[in-house]
Amino acid sequence: MTRQKQATRTSRKTNAESLPKPFIKWAGGKGQLVSELLDRAPADFDSYHEPFMGGAALFFALYRQGKLNGKKIFLSDINQELVDTYASIRDRVETVIRHLRKHKYEKDYYYEVRAWKPEKLTEAKRAARMIFLNRTGFNGLYRVNSKGKFNVPFGRYVNPTICDAKNLRAVSCALQGVKLKHESFEKVLKRAKKNDLIYFDPPYVPVSKTAKFVSYASQGFDLEDQSRLADVFSKLARRGTLAILSNSETPWVKKHFEPFKQDRVLARRSVNSRKDRRGPVGELVVISYSAKEVS
Ligand SMILES: C[S@@+](CC[C@H](N)C(=O)[O-])C[C@H]1O[C@@H](n2cnc3c(N)ncnc32)[C@H](O)[C@@H]1O
Repeated sequence: MTRQKQATRTSRKTNAESLPKPFIKWAGGKGQLVSELLDRAPADFDSYHEPFMGGAALFFALYRQGKLNGKKIFLSDINQELVDTYASIRDRVETVIRHLRKHKYEKDYYYEVRAWKPEKLTEAKRAARMIFLNRTGFNGLYRVNSKGKFNVPFGRYVNPTICDAKNLRAVSCALQGVKLKHESFEKVLKRAKKNDLIYFDPPYVPVSKTAKFVSYASQGFDLEDQSRLADVFSKLARRGTLAILSNSETPWVKKHFEPFKQDRVLARRSVNSRKDRRGPVGELVVISYSAKEVS
């Protein structure tokens, strides 16, 4: 039996080890916040949606706990290359691993691979390139220039793990049957039903006037997007879905999610190019299903 078939057979099986886990480092990755989110997740729900998936830390954590067994799962993001990488790992993990194993941690080589044109590569080779650049580029950032070209410089690491084959295979198992979509977060309104769990982890509202938004994709995410997100959240709450959202603890967020339960938790931002913004910051976890009052 091929490994790919094995992956399908063992699909959705809970792994006793701490695998699968996020296979990329992602700005705003939710490593530390995950236990706070798990504590607040409902015991019972129908389908699961994560419309700002990034590294999908909560998806993997719920999967490891067996909470997603037999459920429909929808993961989506506006970053096309990211979504395609997940799809390649789901559908052809052995080929991705084969390509990934050819990469090496070396400065000149990094810039050579960075210059490859993704659109000219096979899906698996493109996925391996993305993972390689993420593991060896500066701070695991994803940043593209105005022409959509990845432009993160080489990163300094001691022996970075480029290919964690064991985890990639476990990730592939977890992704069997998962619907992956390249789309903006509002599309969740088309699918989410009463009693579905939805986790929103948008780019942060800046904590100070000088702090800039991190560019997660070629499109930025401004306060208008944040307002649309607050509307989507309210609509979903009225529909009876179980929505959780994390964002920075700012007056703006507090005000726009005023009707809902808000818990302050401390989290460390895992990827930030500025050292002064890496310290612990207050985060808010907003929960629709313990709403004080939903109008
Ligand atoms: C804070 S990160 C999510 C981190 C993720 N929870 C994790 O564990 O790594 C935000 C994500 O939102 C995505 N994004 C930005 N604007 C979006 C939009 N309008 N719709 C959907 N996703 C968007 C970015 O590409 C990025 O992956």
